[in-house]
Amino acid sequence: MGGRARIGIVGATGAVGTVTLDLLADRGYQDVRAFASARSAGGRVPFGDEELLVEEATPEALAAGDVDLFLFSVGTSASRALVPVAAAAGAVCVDKSSAYRLVDGYPLVVPEVNGARALDALERDRIVANPNCCTIPLTCVLRPLHDAAGLARVRVSTYQSVSGAGAQRMTALTAERPQDHDLVMDWTWEGDESDEEAKLRAETRKILELPDLPVSATCVRVPVLVGHSEAVWVELERPLTPEEATALLREAPSVRVLDLPEVPTPQAAAGADDVLVGRVRRDGASANGLALYLSCDNLRKGAALNAIQIAELLLAAVAPAAG
Ligand SMILES: NC(=O)c1ccc[n+]([C@@H]2O[C@H](COP(=O)([O-])OP(=O)(O)OC[C@H]3O[C@@H](n4cnc5c(N)ncnc54)[C@H](OP(=O)(O)O)[C@@H]3O)[C@@H](O)[C@H]2O)c1
Repeated sequence: MGGRARIGIVGATGAVGTVTLDLLADRGYQDVRAFASARSAGGRVPFGDEELLVEEATPEALAAGDVDLFLFSVGTSASRALVPVAAAAGAVCVDKSSAYRLVDGYPLVVPEVNGARALDALERDRIVANPNCCTIPLTCVLRPLHDAAGLARVRVSTYQSVSGAGAQRMTALTAERPQDHDLVMDWTWEGDESDEEAKLRAETRKILELPDLPVSATCVRVPVLVGHSEAVWVELERPLTPEEATALLREAPSVRVLDLPEVPTPQAAAGADDVLVGRVRRDGASANGLALYLSCDNLRKGAALNAIQIAELLLAAVAPAAG
């Protein structure tokens, strides 16, 4: 199938869907259709030098069996309604909502970290979940450190841009007066932590296959348009110097280490494919402790790009059968 795959983008008018279309056009995909709700059906969205007609994502349209792969970025309740219909019609589905991420049996995949897991979906109902936009860069960085010295404990504080909350929030920030900018915690409270903090812990454990890993997170929304950043404190089971950790991260796929005086920023990360990592240093507050800082484009590697990479793994695996 590969570049000839028939692809449907569901949520094509949204923050993630728009970037997905850009990335697919850049990668040379041609047979691409755009779907959204009835609100924007009939409109048009840019696709490379062309425009695509936006179709309404009705269950009937997604069940027609004329699409090989659907990339969903529509929100949890719409995903719960639409993804099973598309999958039952034979399409491979990559879902970016939290509908399937933590459900047993559904692969939750960062290709550089646990890519082989994606193929499990081909033995089941062809649905793969794409993780949260903070979990993806975090696991890209944790994987090589764990492989080298064993993770004992992780603490993380996030600085998340408004695009993580969708296109409307980007428009609202653009219209806001600078003196009204604030740092907020605009998630749902689950006891004394937000659902975002709980997701970051549970998804990290699932992807790394470390079900008991202690992870403590504080998630904060900052008045930045695109690019999430994270301060990370890692406690390891065995000693690892900052120099050794830096060398491992330089070799890690989709990770780019910045050396002082350069530090990761959302501006530097926006539009880039890599997770930017810097300030790798000893954390004197814990045994075998390291501290580091990262920034990542939440709409690209944090969402659209990661999902396309999952899709390309799946398309490559089904290509012989399809061909
Ligand atoms: N933004 C991020 O950084 C990020 C990262 C990872 C995952 N995600 C996840 O991706 C999903 C979308 O996020 P987003 O930021 O792109 O949101 P968004 O900008 O608000 O876009 C939502 C998209 O979903 C469509 N939609 C909403 N309800 C629908 C329905 N019932 N049927 C069909 N289409 C529907 C909207 O179409 P209309 O134009 O017709 O309203 C729009 O295209 C969410 O689940 C989010 O959690 C986002």
